[in-house]
Amino acid sequence: MEIFIDSADLDEIRDVADMGVIDGVTTNPSLIAKVGRPLKDVIVDICKIVDGPISAEVLATDYEGIVREGRELAQLHPNVVVKVPLIADGLKAVKTFTSEGIKTNVTLCFSVTQGLLAAKAGATYISPFIGRVDDVSGDGMDLIEQLVTCYGNYGYRTKVLAASIRHPRHVVECLMLGAHVGTLPRDVILRLVQHPLTDLGLARFLEDAKKIPKS
Ligand code: G3P
Repeated sequence: MEIFIDSADLDEIRDVADMGVIDGVTTNPSLIAKVGRPLKDVIVDICKIVDGPISAEVLATDYEGIVREGRELAQLHPNVVVKVPLIADGLKAVKTFTSEGIKTNVTLCFSVTQGLLAAKAGATYISPFIGRVDDVSGDGMDLIEQLVTCYGNYGYRTKVLAASIRHPRHVVECLMLGAHVGTLPRDVILRLVQHPLTDLGLARFLEDAKKIPKS
C-alpha cells in the first residue's frame, strides 16, 4: 500500500518525507486554509519536497469552472493530480481530464455506487472518507472493502485511496482489505513508528551498553 501524507504544512511534509516512507501528498481546501497561503504557491512548494502524486483540489463546483481550475493546477507540475468533488459536474470534468491525460482524485466518496461512477468516468484515484463514515455511525471499512471488491470484480484501474484516516487501526484494516493507497495525517504516521517494546528494548540495550568495556 502506498502511503501519502494528508497535509499542506511544508514542515510536516518535509519531516515525514525525510523518513523515506512517503509516496505522495493529498491536500484539501481545509488543509490549505490552515497554512494561510495561496493554494497554487503551496502546491508548487510541496512538489519540490515530494516526488510523487500531489493532489490539489479545485474550488469550483460547475463543469466549466472545474475544468478551468483543474487545467491550471495540472500545469503547475507534472506530479499534480487534480482533486475533484464527487458531483455530476465533477464526473463530467473527470471525463474531460482523462481524455487530456490529466490525473484525477475524485473526493468525498461515501458509497460504492459513487465509486463505480468515478471509475467509469476514468478517475485515477477514488477517495472514500472512512473516518467521516465512522463519525455518523457507519463503518468506513465496509466502504473500502466494497470499492476494492467492485474494482477487482470488473477490472477498473482506479485506485482506492483511503482518506479521512484517523488512527493506526484504520491503516491496519486498509492493508488487510487491499486499499491501494492510504493518506495519513502526520500524527498517524508517527504513531505507526511507535511501539512500547521498541522503546523498552532500546532503553535496555543502552543501559547494557554502559557495561561494555572500553577498548
Ligand atoms: O483529505 C481528505 C480527508 O483525509 C479529510 O480527513 O479527518 O478531515 O475527515 P478528515
